[in-house]
Amino acid sequence: MQPQFLKFCRLTPEIVKNAAEKFGTPFYLYDENTIVEKCRQVLAMPNAFGLTVHYAMKANPGKALLQLITAQGLNVDTSSLNEARRAFLAGIPYDRMILTTQEIPFGQDRTDLEKYIHAGLTYNVCSKRQLLLIADYAAAENVPLSMRIHPGVGSGESASRNTGDKYSSFGVHLTNIPEVLDTANARGIVINRVHVHIGSGGDPVTWRENIDRELMFLEKYFPDAETVNFGGGFKEARMPDEDAADIQALGEYATQRILEFYQRTGRKLHMEVEPGTFIVANAGFLVTRVLDKKRTGKDGFNFIILDAGMEANTRPLMYGSRHPFYVVSKDGQLLSHESEKRKNSDAFVLVGKCCESGDSQCLTKNGEIAPRLLTEPQLDDYVIIGGTGAYCSAMSPYNYNSHPQYTEVILRRNGDVQVIRKPQTMEQIVQNELPLEISQTNSTNKRQKINASYPIF
Ligand SMILES: Cc1ncc(COP(=O)(O)O)c(C=O)c1O
Repeated sequence: MQPQFLKFCRLTPEIVKNAAEKFGTPFYLYDENTIVEKCRQVLAMPNAFGLTVHYAMKANPGKALLQLITAQGLNVDTSSLNEARRAFLAGIPYDRMILTTQEIPFGQDRTDLEKYIHAGLTYNVCSKRQLLLIADYAAAENVPLSMRIHPGVGSGESASRNTGDKYSSFGVHLTNIPEVLDTANARGIVINRVHVHIGSGGDPVTWRENIDRELMFLEKYFPDAETVNFGGGFKEARMPDEDAADIQALGEYATQRILEFYQRTGRKLHMEVEPGTFIVANAGFLVTRVLDKKRTGKDGFNFIILDAGMEANTRPLMYGSRHPFYVVSKDGQLLSHESEKRKNSDAFVLVGKCCESGDSQCLTKNGEIAPRLLTEPQLDDYVIIGGTGAYCSAMSPYNYNSHPQYTEVILRRNGDVQVIRKPQTMEQIVQNELPLEISQTNSTNKRQKINASYPIF
């Protein structure tokens, strides 16, 4: 399983087979070596006056991965108060977190936010309302704030992953910067960091152009800013025919522009990036088993039914994303390899077990079925869905059809496979549900009727 785009991965078909026999399918398997290498690559990005990398934990927020990634020297980008709390519970101090959220904190959330800022959390205000709500506290405590700008231009793997154009609502729109800054100035609040995140997995050229755009905002509007945060979104290659963003080249470009900025203004800007996908996407594999096979007539499709689908990887359904597939026989032989189509390949559609025709791993961005070439797996063989380390376990509609959250394991660098999340039990699925008192009336026509004991309308 070592095509070029997985060059750090230590997974072998035998490890898959042994783990499947030990833990039962389906499960997510993460490769520690890939994560460590990816952290190293991003920390080595060229920069002019220093670099801080925040791992966007929304990509995969589990405790073990947070601990592994922060141990490499990355900080954490959180997108909700609960993500900040969760990272703290994993042992990460608030002064290693930035919070960029659409939430408007009230009540306990507001009290907690102040507590976290006091402990060193960077609050990246995304709207005038957020600024107004925290203004008194920030002014009284003399805490500088960060501001997320909506640059008007973005790029993403799909339209819904573009967070910079007029169809998205993130950050203070460029046309509102003067007004929001007037508000900050009137309260004596210093904005010492400017942040833009244009989207996930988009065009690296647009990412590069954003460097210029953001530095232009910074020069024009933010005299006190010392840090420029370019967000995350580095395009990753999950499929052999995809090209990943060249983060070395992006770092060199950013360095050049930050140096030019320094020559013009005498200001040395610290640089920040906050990748999620780049760190974990290709470190993750969803290991499934073939449950069944069906063909829908002469003009239909060859369906392979797996024991996990949209509830474990919803990205094909949401974005039309393509993921690499590997087939491993039940005795541990690699039968099909994504970057090397074997002679006996045929076109198959991989689907899951949910009652939903969209529960498919083979969809286009328009929602059409796109069969894929692979060696035909037999019943009980394993199908491994690669590129599932980011926005899969984290973002999936688990518990749909009452399927549980699946086991997560990690392949350690020494070859051990260790559980990092146990599967959800049936008791956990229903644990917060409360019964309703229903009065039962005996029916005369022998059919039992169940009526609510009070009128609904
Ligand atoms: C503010 C912010 N930063 C970083 C990221 C991480 O993006 P990616 O996983 O594409 O690197 C996201 C993802 O949506 C985001 O919203």
